[in-house]
Amino acid sequence: MRHLLEIDDLTAIELREVLALASEPISAHPLEGKGAALLFEKPSARTRNSMELAVVQLGGHPLTIRPDEVGLDTRETVEDVIRTLCCYHALIGARVFQHSMLERAVAVSSVPIVNMLSDQGHPLQGLADVLTLADEFGGADALAGRTIAYVGDGNNVARSLALAAGMLGMSVRVASPEGFELSDSDTDRIRAAGVELLCTQDPVAACVGADAVYTDVWTSMGQEAETALRLQAFSGFTVTEDLMAVTAPDSVFLHCLPAHRGEEVTHDVLESDRSRVWPQAENRMHAARGAMRWLLEQR
Ligand code: CP
Repeated sequence: MRHLLEIDDLTAIELREVLALASEPISAHPLEGKGAALLFEKPSARTRNSMELAVVQLGGHPLTIRPDEVGLDTRETVEDVIRTLCCYHALIGARVFQHSMLERAVAVSSVPIVNMLSDQGHPLQGLADVLTLADEFGGADALAGRTIAYVGDGNNVARSLALAAGMLGMSVRVASPEGFELSDSDTDRIRAAGVELLCTQDPVAACVGADAVYTDVWTSMGQEAETALRLQAFSGFTVTEDLMAVTAPDSVFLHCLPAHRGEEVTHDVLESDRSRVWPQAENRMHAARGAMRWLLEQR
């Protein structure tokens, strides 16, 4: 039984297998006649829609569940909810606040568990990100030696991106303000996966010559009480046209979305010719299909 809680649950070879399946025309329906339960503790536009459609493309029936519908750890334990869902479904996706919820799910699950975002990682986003870069630069094998600069919060998106891009041989630079860097355990884990990682507090140093620039919102879901503090801390970390001007001539801009124009990125950069945010959003569906098909084929 294999699960996908973070990108480095895959080897570098397996990561390429997932991306290859994601890029294939739809040909297999391993979920024919089966269900996939999608649990959401947080709101979602891209993840819910891309996962539901990917389940349909694999021949299955997606069932989206809000936590209040099953009473996670209130009406019954997470373990009992997961054991129950395993009676009906061939795969379970979960978007949770605490990553430990996913680890508890894995401990009792008889079907693959997919992390649809936790406080620690966003692997489906990371897969879509590298799929978009592969589309742009001539395939997954053509990414080695290229550089991606992430400018902003050292969060779950940054960690999964660094793992995915780095495991394909990209050089990864992360620029974050003091106090909002990737944690030491994150950088240890990313480097343990063989990734060349540079962490800095200087967005320009991160972006010089980079082939891709990536950012995320400064205040993620659940951090709303820190909004004012974060607006101040991240001042100077906006991806602007001036910042993009120091990158490689054919560089692209990526954002996991939703975007806050005028905060982490200007409207002009988001809407520029360099922006690939809409193909990136579409790739969420292809990446989800590739990941689920790969997991289901491991059984
Ligand atoms: N990027 C992302 O996960 O989007 P949603 O929060 O809308 O799913």
